[in-house]
Amino acid sequence: MRRFKVARVSAERCVNCGFCENAVCEVGSAFRRQTAAKTAVGCTGCGACVLACPYEARFLEVVQEERAEIQIKVDGERFAVPEGITVLDALEMLGFKILPFKEEPPSEGEILAPCRTGGCWACAVIIDGELKPSCVTPVREGMEISTNVHEIEPKRIVSGFQGHPVGGVGTPHWVKPVSSLLFYAPVEVACFAHGCNLRCPTCQNWSITYSASVAGHNPLKPEEAARIITFERRMNRVDRIAISGGECTLNRRWLLSFLEALKRMNRDKNARFHVDTNGTFLTRAYIDDLVDAGMTDIGVDVKALHLETFMRITGLREESLASCFLKNEWDALKYLIDRYAEKVFVGVGIPYNASLISLEEVREIGERIASISEDVQVCALDYRPEFRRRDIVKPSYEEMLVVKKTLEECGLRCVLAQTEFGRIGP
Ligand code: FES
Repeated sequence: MRRFKVARVSAERCVNCGFCENAVCEVGSAFRRQTAAKTAVGCTGCGACVLACPYEARFLEVVQEERAEIQIKVDGERFAVPEGITVLDALEMLGFKILPFKEEPPSEGEILAPCRTGGCWACAVIIDGELKPSCVTPVREGMEISTNVHEIEPKRIVSGFQGHPVGGVGTPHWVKPVSSLLFYAPVEVACFAHGCNLRCPTCQNWSITYSASVAGHNPLKPEEAARIITFERRMNRVDRIAISGGECTLNRRWLLSFLEALKRMNRDKNARFHVDTNGTFLTRAYIDDLVDAGMTDIGVDVKALHLETFMRITGLREESLASCFLKNEWDALKYLIDRYAEKVFVGVGIPYNASLISLEEVREIGERIASISEDVQVCALDYRPEFRRRDIVKPSYEEMLVVKKTLEECGLRCVLAQTEFGRIGP
């Protein structure tokens, strides 16, 4: 008897919203209607539906059972593994080290798997000749897997290519919408990378973050995504191209190649390349690479100062990982400002909702940012009821004014606040 993970559905919590049909692995749509009493047929226990369910109606259970073994080939060697597991789990059984984060690109014998929902494709390996995400792909009899992916072009799921009338955290406040013949006036064009390493219960873009291949989004090579967004730039007649998420930094090779392709396709001096990120994956070397690849504008969310708050906001349960990510986002912000303030526009986002973070901590965040730079653009983001925190109340206009004033009292000279009536600030 061996132990396996299996997804279950809580009949009390499931409202039949159907999101898991669009969000999960190859077998996901087949088991939406399973009840808590049954084992999901064909479930590999990948956990993508558990992370994606907006009602927390799914959970993983460990079961002990006999399973038949199947033969697979990994990097030319034949192995027997139990049926009904993911390729990632099979690789782990065979001795590969699976990592949620690594400062350097993974070395031989290591697989980076930060999102586990089939979005980022950082975990992708070659399966029967085709690049596929190992975290949501089931093993099959006779499957041939190659982990040597460093020579081939990366892919990931990116969608939502279009113009936007408001910018992101990394959009300078002085950028105004271009006058347009379209029904809206865009400030930039943007696209969104699926998959995230954080599990924020107030995720503001959850339908993209947690939906991947089953939703009909094709994985794109960097060049393909760059071509689509460049076309959108021309159609919308803007200078700015942005990528956000989900979390766009999880697949480093993809993002760097995307920026390089954008730079090649947009050679005019007005073109700006903007990345919005939670900053948790940004090491110094990664930031250097992004700037070298062409990034001109970056928005970094700092979600908290204290670990307890950070874990509440991000939904991370593992303290050591959360602590590493919290440190990374602050280190990244300081490094960006200290090293690249002249070359790169830096914006900082601070999510605010009284049920998530105290004004006291917002003040501490403001003081810490001001100790790095008093001139950096800071935007307080009003976190609305979303995803798994539909019980919270969106901060009022007056509350956001208090947050703005609190940050200004810390010495910050360029504070914006997102409010129910739009963005206020300089
Ligand atoms: S970890 Fe597998 S797609 Fe992101």
